[in-house]
Amino acid sequence: MNNIILCGFMGCGKTTVGKVLARMLAMEYIDLDTEIQQDAGLTIPDIFAQYGEAHFRDLEHVAVKGLAKRISCVVSTGGGAMTFERNTTAISPHDMTVFLDASFETCYERIRESDRPLIHNNTPQQLAELFERRRVIYRAACAFTVDGDPPAEEVSREIIRLREHALTHK
Ligand code: S3P
Repeated sequence: MNNIILCGFMGCGKTTVGKVLARMLAMEYIDLDTEIQQDAGLTIPDIFAQYGEAHFRDLEHVAVKGLAKRISCVVSTGGGAMTFERNTTAISPHDMTVFLDASFETCYERIRESDRPLIHNNTPQQLAELFERRRVIYRAACAFTVDGDPPAEEVSREIIRLREHALTHK
């Protein structure tokens, strides 16, 4: 298994877990949204505001395709990335895809005050519906699902356990 790709809803802990996991495994950490912002020279809210969501999704797709050139990285994806088939099919079958399955309450508490465009463009009720729709998609798209509610160290240890198990039972 090569890269570890963390997926899940906004606020599920992809960034926090990603950093802890990368440190534990001495692997490089990549935040895909940070790369998109650096390449565009704009923040995500600005990309959405100036060019629209469809353009952001195209930039996101380019960033996902770029992962093919990376090895031994822990990658945090944006919450929408793995809901698009063109992105899931661009991920190498040698990478370990992990869905951080945190509850909507946990996610919402972390994101409600943020400047994420989807928070501004949707009511809490709409976000809860999006969460449920996406949860089904993440589960299908990722090879592994872990409980995202425990502290990041615990979630990271569980991912390491699953990875070692998969590596020894190849
Ligand atoms: C998005 C999630 C965000 C970011 C963008 C769109 C989404 O990333 O990619 O605002 O569609 O869920 P986080 O999941 O890191 O907040």
